[in-house]
Amino acid sequence: MTSDSAQEAERTDSRYPPDLDMSTPTVARTYDALLGGKDNFQPDRDAAMAVEQTNPGTTQLALENRGFLSRGVRYVSELGIRQFIDLGSGLPTVENTHQVAQSVDPNASVVYVDIDPIVLAHGRAILAENSTTTVVTADLRDVERVMSAEETRGLVDFSRPVGLMLVSLLHCVPDKDDPFGLVRRYFEWLPAGSALIYSHLCASDEDAARTFTERVHELGMEWGRVRSPDECARALDGLEIVSPSTDGSAARTLVDCDTWRNGDIEPQPRPTDPDKQIWEHAGVGVKRG
Ligand SMILES: C[S@@+](CC[C@H](N)C(=O)[O-])C[C@H]1O[C@@H](n2cnc3c(N)ncnc32)[C@H](O)[C@@H]1O
Repeated sequence: MTSDSAQEAERTDSRYPPDLDMSTPTVARTYDALLGGKDNFQPDRDAAMAVEQTNPGTTQLALENRGFLSRGVRYVSELGIRQFIDLGSGLPTVENTHQVAQSVDPNASVVYVDIDPIVLAHGRAILAENSTTTVVTADLRDVERVMSAEETRGLVDFSRPVGLMLVSLLHCVPDKDDPFGLVRRYFEWLPAGSALIYSHLCASDEDAARTFTERVHELGMEWGRVRSPDECARALDGLEIVSPSTDGSAARTLVDCDTWRNGDIEPQPRPTDPDKQIWEHAGVGVKRG
């Protein structure tokens, strides 16, 4: 197919809402392009290239973040949690939350939530074949709407522990919307034993954080900012942080996502390569009674 006919096919794909804006990149589609997925358009691919140029290694970071997501869901499933709310879930890719959770227990349920309607367009395929998985199009800032949506209530029993996922998401939320206050509000709905699976784009170098943030804003995406390690850690306030090493000996802090419970890799507070100035600060926290 020529690139023109490929773009025409994209425009007329019947899965997409007729009013879908394909001319401005979105976070979900750009992230899909970074991961090498097919559910994105030319402006998203251009945006993926632009962020990679601004911060070489962003593509690798996206892959490492997916690895963390997978290990996080498996770990929380092994704690006995069987229901997950995956906020800002992104487009379906490999090792999606329901696949990991259902490999531990085939009856595990997953509510995927994303602001981008394209996630629902592609998620319908999942819905068709999986009765304990659903997709909700919603803004995570509307906590009431997410938690009281019919789809959420249909799959989640709020008297039992829930795995709440905020993986590579809160940097999309500007300070004015109180990203860390939102985490508290979600946990008010959840009983003791519930867990947070969390990662956030992080830099201790203010210039690196500012340059990356400005580039994403210039590309026209609705976004928050890269935050410092201390700021990122605020998401876990009030929760008991799980040790990031598989043997449980490492200090209970957030770490570079690639080093979180990743076999024999020693957990690191940031990448050891000094050229990697931006990383996903990651961890799991549990709500105690
Ligand atoms: C970087 S992707 C992360 C996807 C997935 N959580 C992962 O880590 O692989 C961020 C996702 O959050 C979604 N998102 C951004 N702002 C959101 C909001 N206010 N409410 C719900 N979803 C949002 C985007 O559409 C995108 O799919």
